Amino acid sequence: MTHIQKHESAIAYEVRKGLLCEQKCLPPWLFYDEEGSRLYELITELPEYYPTRTERGILARHAADIAERAARGAEADVHVVELGAGTATKTTLVLAAVVARQGQCVYVPIDVSPTALEEAKTRITAELPTVNVQPFVGKHEEAFDTIASLGQRRLVLFIGSSIGNFPDDVAHALLAGVRRGVLPGGGLLLGTDLRKSPARLVPAYDDSRGVTAAFNKNVLARINRELGGHFEVDTFRHVALWNEPESRIEMHLESTVAQSVAIDGLGVDVHFRAGERIHTESSQKYDTKRIDALLLGTGFVREHTYTDDEGLFAVTFARAVA
Ligand code: AVI
Repeated sequence: MTHIQKHESAIAYEVRKGLLCEQKCLPPWLFYDEEGSRLYELITELPEYYPTRTERGILARHAADIAERAARGAEADVHVVELGAGTATKTTLVLAAVVARQGQCVYVPIDVSPTALEEAKTRITAELPTVNVQPFVGKHEEAFDTIASLGQRRLVLFIGSSIGNFPDDVAHALLAGVRRGVLPGGGLLLGTDLRKSPARLVPAYDDSRGVTAAFNKNVLARINRELGGHFEVDTFRHVALWNEPESRIEMHLESTVAQSVAIDGLGVDVHFRAGERIHTESSQKYDTKRIDALLLGTGFVREHTYTDDEGLFAVTFARAVA
């Protein structure tokens, strides 16, 4: 089985499982085909979407300190691994600081989007020629062995608040899996969006230009393209809401009419009531207590949390303990 066939069947599996049940849902990784990755890049530049630029500011200010922590006590060069790297625009700040200390480094960006990784490799190689970029196309958990095989002291980046798109139990298992590939003393750099007023949060996920709506709806267009779906995308409405008890933003796609949608590639018809929603994403919002709870029992311990002047976003350096 080729890699592509395996990937397509993963989509078929998720869509069948997610749409043929009572509470319809789709996993957020389905957003990131070529078009979805392009739209996500646009989101990161929107005035309402503060996380990317805020995290970039934190990294710019503290990259040297982060690189110093990563190297503390290490006898060999630090290698950098990044989960959900995308086009890795912010990562350059950390890589430059690591290279300033040790002259070169290996960088393994991991992502489901090969086009995003290609772009990352081209740009980083041009900007920092002593960084040896070794992309890995796949889901995080598929990369655990690669992380472990790197051998030397590692700094694992999980920035961009990507951890927030996983429920806590899955995020916890993911971090524990990462820890198995990191030697004691190694580092984890975790970017998390912080809890704040819904008045600030909701527009970040429902912007005035409709880019986030297009990003959300692209998942239906992707099902049409890849699985022979017949979704009329405009009959679905983008919904972004704050779930206070769960401390998360949720994105849904709401069918504005009662309808049946055929998906030829799966040989199924999916029925929707008017107003019925597909839950497409949760984006968890944290405080330091929740970050500590997330790390508890993973083998990483929070060492330092960097934040911005407004307290919008947090970047945590956690250390792998024996
Ligand atoms: C990738 N991830 C951290 C984004 C977030 O904020 O949860 C995805 C996103 N969804 C809508 N806007 C951005």
